[in-house]
Amino acid sequence: MTSTDTEQTIPQANDILICPVCQQPLPELAGATDKHGSARSRGCANGHSFDRARQGYFNLLLVNQKRSLNPGDNIEMVRARQQFLNGGYYQAIADAINTALIPVLADRANTSASQTLHIADSGCGEGYYTASLAQQLTANHIHHHLYGIDISRDAVRTACQRSKQIDWLVASGSRLPFQPGSLDAILSVFTPTMADRWAELLKPEAPVWLVTPAQQHLQELRQHIYTDVRSDSYDPTDDMIKQGFERVGSSEHSSQVFIPAAALPDLLTMTPHGWRITAEKRQQVLALNGLELTISVRISQFSAHSSNDQPAPAENI
Ligand SMILES: C[S@@+](CC[C@H](N)C(=O)[O-])C[C@H]1O[C@@H](n2cnc3c(N)ncnc32)[C@H](O)[C@@H]1O
Ligand SMILES: [Zn+2]
Repeated sequence: MTSTDTEQTIPQANDILICPVCQQPLPELAGATDKHGSARSRGCANGHSFDRARQGYFNLLLVNQKRSLNPGDNIEMVRARQQFLNGGYYQAIADAINTALIPVLADRANTSASQTLHIADSGCGEGYYTASLAQQLTANHIHHHLYGIDISRDAVRTACQRSKQIDWLVASGSRLPFQPGSLDAILSVFTPTMADRWAELLKPEAPVWLVTPAQQHLQELRQHIYTDVRSDSYDPTDDMIKQGFERVGSSEHSSQVFIPAAALPDLLTMTPHGWRITAEKRQQVLALNGLELTISVRISQFSAHSSNDQPAPAENI
């Protein structure tokens, strides 16, 4: 972060980012642009400014918001996930997400006053699902600004390789750097739920989708690792209701995929199971000729209570 009070800001109606220090709007600063024509810096009226990294992202995570030097997934996990996902083994999950989101977003685009949807993917990792959604939004002629946000700088750096059209940001999902009431949707895939401040960022009735592992997800891998195979399922509904959301719907999507032996090390490195595995079990898994694997996710859609939904105050008797 550098301080500036001489540079001019470029006001843009569609610019919804805020300064992580003072929460004022954080428009692009006039001046130098990078080779893609994007402004090199953003700054607020209080003189806090942020430079775009060489790879194209903005780092809006303040040092005092970090619990460790490099929070989030490390570079080994990011690379393993990128390599694995590029193998197409989780394509069915991307398809299920797009199939769930696109009709709802198309409907929103048709009825929204601005018609440009602002969509955040919180905990985007190295951007596989973000980039897939961007492609489908474009293919369906839905005007959009898509933001991929992750607390891991390594993840966001890597995500920049996937698309220059997506706004990649290093920030925390629990402090998304957007103006109140500015987002049309939030998506979060395989990432802990951190929705305590999301309701205020969303426009009225804007959807939130959480994609979580369903009961059978990776069960064959888990059978190799654990003697007592527990369900990997987490239903975020209770947590979301506590944060003022209501569940609109939920669906499960399962399929079988063959993971060749060459992709197994990456699968182990990118899942928490790989961290918990003993050296002996790791050897056993890596000696397999491949693995027929169940992939199974739950896609849950939520909506923030609008103020009209609040229960009426009890009448004085
Ligand atoms: C299992 S990965 C999923 C990544 C991506 N959505 C995917 O499915 O490929 C979880 C991601 O959450 C990120 N993460 C963890 N804590 C976070 C936080 N507080 N804010 C934003 N991202 C966070 C990690 O860095 C990691 O990239
Ligand atoms: Zn500021």
